[in-house]
Amino acid sequence: MRTQVGIIGSGPSGLLLARLLHLQGIDTVILESRSREYVEGRIRAGVIEQGMADLLREAKTGERMDREGLVHRGINIAFDGRLERIDFPKHTSGKVVMVYGQTEITHDLMKAHIDEAGGIVHYETPAIRVEDYDTDHPRIIYDRSGEQKELICDFVAGCDGYHGVARKSIPADKITNFERTYPFGWLGILSDVPPVKEELIYANHERGFALCSMRSHTRSRYYIQCKLDDKVENWTDDAFWDELRHRLPPEEAENVTTGPRLEMSITPLHSFIAEPLRFGRLFLAGDAGHIVPPTGAKGLNLAASDIYYLSRALIASCQEKRTDLLDRYSDAALRRVWKATRFSWWYTSLLHKYDDDVMSRRMQISELDYLTGSAAGRTVISENYVGLPYEAFE
Ligand code: FAD
Ligand code: DHB
Repeated sequence: MRTQVGIIGSGPSGLLLARLLHLQGIDTVILESRSREYVEGRIRAGVIEQGMADLLREAKTGERMDREGLVHRGINIAFDGRLERIDFPKHTSGKVVMVYGQTEITHDLMKAHIDEAGGIVHYETPAIRVEDYDTDHPRIIYDRSGEQKELICDFVAGCDGYHGVARKSIPADKITNFERTYPFGWLGILSDVPPVKEELIYANHERGFALCSMRSHTRSRYYIQCKLDDKVENWTDDAFWDELRHRLPPEEAENVTTGPRLEMSITPLHSFIAEPLRFGRLFLAGDAGHIVPPTGAKGLNLAASDIYYLSRALIASCQEKRTDLLDRYSDAALRRVWKATRFSWWYTSLLHKYDDDVMSRRMQISELDYLTGSAAGRTVISENYVGLPYEAFE
């Protein structure tokens, strides 16, 4: 098999890249280790920055998002028995975010790229490694029904997530990894109940962090901080709802509508950045190159900003034989990645319980009191939350 751009992974980054390249007449083949149903069914992110929403519109896959997505003009932060609202447009000259699930985005991209445009995605076809990435014809070695085959490409995009093989194909002395783990995880529930409040609530509580999010007016997504070694089997639905209510201010706790779970899962928290993101003709994008803790909803949005830079670089190369944008990809993408990683780390530290130390807790409360009491503090939260701007890249 041959193609112009071989893409490993059909998560949001792989699909979005394939779609943007297809619209410019560039051939792609995606190799995906899982089935289509599995990829479509994964419950993950829910908050979309304006930059990502614009990119989905550019990909001509923003129509349903614009119809069904919920525009959010602010968030609430609960601490010390109080609830403070942060108004995004006021502090960012008009910016907002969109609540629209990763599941829906994946569905829209699959429909447009595969069902309507005939784009090629080979499911249940795991890549094994990338070879010859520093030549003009990198190759992806993959497994098709137990047989090893190869896809010869002009370029390879490693969009295969944190556990993928693209990054692992690079010798250790050519890549630098930066990493931080956190001493807790998130236990999440998805349930068909109306959200407790119209906008998200991020809660700092002495029992631990809680987040009230949603997918629609009738479907809620809630998370509570849990122990790293906790198991979903340890939690009944009732126990989850009780613990959530404990961690919210009284008025919000009273308004929680409970219901049976559609899904419950535990996510560990992790910060990770690989440098660089380009190795000859192999490019890493999305979770393959970096991971953030979910606090602040940056993971999916960073996958989109990588694809903004990478799609432009590949288009300039395929259409105009320009290599300058390929050379700039890694630095441009990483500048934004580092800033969002810093924000996710800081926002995590501000809201979670690390230990029983009362001084640390009072410092958190005092910082929240300061931030929410100051226009500068509200601006810091708002401009990071709505998403830092993409750099001009042409
Ligand atoms: P992925 O979505 O991971 O896609 C990678 C794809 O590559 C997968 O389909 C995988 O099956 C495939 N693949 C892997 N290895 C191979 C191989 N060898 N060959 C072929 N295919 C391969 N972000 C938020 O902003 N908010 C959240 O609430 C949130 N919750 C999350 C919960 C969980 C459990 C996880 C894991 C992530 C969460 N994230 C969240 C992060 C967000 O979902 C990711 O940042 C986003 O999915 C990144 O997209 P991606 O396409 O780069 O990677
Ligand atoms: C969601 C997840 C997040 O990490 C976040 O900060 C906001 C929302 C969500 O899944 O809805």
